Amino acid sequence: MDPNTSGLVQKLAEAGQSHLLQFWKELSTKEQQELFQDLQGMDFLEINKFFKSAMETSSSTKHEKMDGRMEPVPREVLGSVTRDRESLKDWEAKGLDCIGQSKVAVLLLAGGQGTRLGFSHPKGMYDVGLPSHKTLFQIQAERILKLQQLAKQKTTVNCCVPWYIMTSGRTMESTKNFFSEHKYFGLDKDNVIFFQQGMLPAMDYNGKIILESQGKLSMAPDGNGGLYRALGNQGILDDMQRRGVEFIHVYCVDNILVKVADPTFIGFCVQKGADCGAKVVEKTNPTEAVGVVCKVDGRYQVVEYSEITLATAEKRSSDGRLMFSAGNVANHFFSFSFLRDVVQEYEPQLQHHVAQKKIPFVDVQGHIITPEKPNGIKMEKFVFDIFQFAKTFVVYEVLREDEFSPLKNADAQDGKDTPTTARHALMSLHHRWVLNAGGHFIDENGRRVPAIPRDGAAGSVTDDGNRNLKDGTDLPIKCEISPLVSYAGEGLEKLVKGRELQATLMIDEHGVHELVKNGV
Ligand code: UD1
Repeated sequence: MDPNTSGLVQKLAEAGQSHLLQFWKELSTKEQQELFQDLQGMDFLEINKFFKSAMETSSSTKHEKMDGRMEPVPREVLGSVTRDRESLKDWEAKGLDCIGQSKVAVLLLAGGQGTRLGFSHPKGMYDVGLPSHKTLFQIQAERILKLQQLAKQKTTVNCCVPWYIMTSGRTMESTKNFFSEHKYFGLDKDNVIFFQQGMLPAMDYNGKIILESQGKLSMAPDGNGGLYRALGNQGILDDMQRRGVEFIHVYCVDNILVKVADPTFIGFCVQKGADCGAKVVEKTNPTEAVGVVCKVDGRYQVVEYSEITLATAEKRSSDGRLMFSAGNVANHFFSFSFLRDVVQEYEPQLQHHVAQKKIPFVDVQGHIITPEKPNGIKMEKFVFDIFQFAKTFVVYEVLREDEFSPLKNADAQDGKDTPTTARHALMSLHHRWVLNAGGHFIDENGRRVPAIPRDGAAGSVTDDGNRNLKDGTDLPIKCEISPLVSYAGEGLEKLVKGRELQATLMIDEHGVHELVKNGV
């Protein structure tokens, strides 16, 4: 473990990163061992190359808005749950067939650090306070279980939807332990496959790697686009091939409403012969901070809101909708062969994006400093940066209130994308499922609660889907339906049709539970 004799000193000198050993003599033997191991495992010349090209791309695009080069998604590649109602059943049947033949896998991106939520565990372990107290991981696992059942009912054979879970160095161990403690939520352990994305060091503006303490580099996951490298070097593509997976649904951990392996979305993409697809919700507010799916210089990509002017964001088509309305909800479809080509051929062409951050660092005296303004960058690839390589790209528009309510931030008054908004979104959806299945809700006086609440009692929904509830108020109807009972609202008539139900209701595999008001 001698940095001199092992060649490490020279390797660092060649890469201009010798400062990483500046505190070597002050470290304990254990710290020296750890630092030595970390440094030995790194390819500094590659990291320097990433830094150089990421900075070049970022400075050349910084002042150049995308506006003039953008075109909206053309109607012929767009499927919509509202405008293509007549096709939905066909798409769903096609998707269920593929699932029934075990050709579909789901892939969860769960390597993020969840910094904005302020939760010290992986985000999937978060309990948003539903009556059942299920975590995001459990909800998703149960949706997979239910889908396997639905596909079996259709095809009469057992099928399997393998669940690939991408974690990072920071989240791997706790994620795996959590699944094991909960017995994989009823899934077959062999069909839940964990793998780890790469990490990259944070760098200052001169390309020097930042030390977060005397013996430790400041490291962060390499973005959700780190997926593609990990798929190759962790043997995941091979595993998919061995299992005969042909279609993959990739999604983010934080959306409580996510329709994991959504058969309709998969069926739509398969029927269109797509190798790559993106699910979107209609962006209705020009200033909403979501990326939009569109074409730039003739190629599909997601353009972040910060990259366009307000005038472009506000442009409307003749039907009155925003011209750039395809809001990215981070749910993607890939064919296996497309993913394989990306991993084997295109991945190195993907550029890292630069995020300027306030990165705690150790100064020359060895003190840890937390800066007040950005002092360096983190480099990330994005999952959607491969859209440009698709031969047949499609876009599928769904309803926000049915499918999109991400958990990003901690609770705060009037907060956006918080545990409260996620909980409300799920319970409002399930409330509607019960009404659509012919059930009714009654209040504590036995009176029917109107389907559309008066006086905004349930809070009005804002343009970006968040619910404005007055401080301290909660939904008048608290309804939660286990995914083990219903995947998307189906199969509820036999349980609720014609029934008058208490305003706090839970339906799970054991039956219908009416709970006393506020008794959860
Ligand atoms: C993401 C989308 C954005 C979309 C929004 C919808 C990307 C790059 N951006 O933004 O276009 O409008 O979701 O909610 O996809 N993750 C990793 N590894 C990482 C970093 C993140 O696996 O290194 C995972 C996270 O665990 C999470 C997902 O990627 O599941 C999204 O990450 P997040 O940072 O929350 O993305 P947003 O900025 O919210």
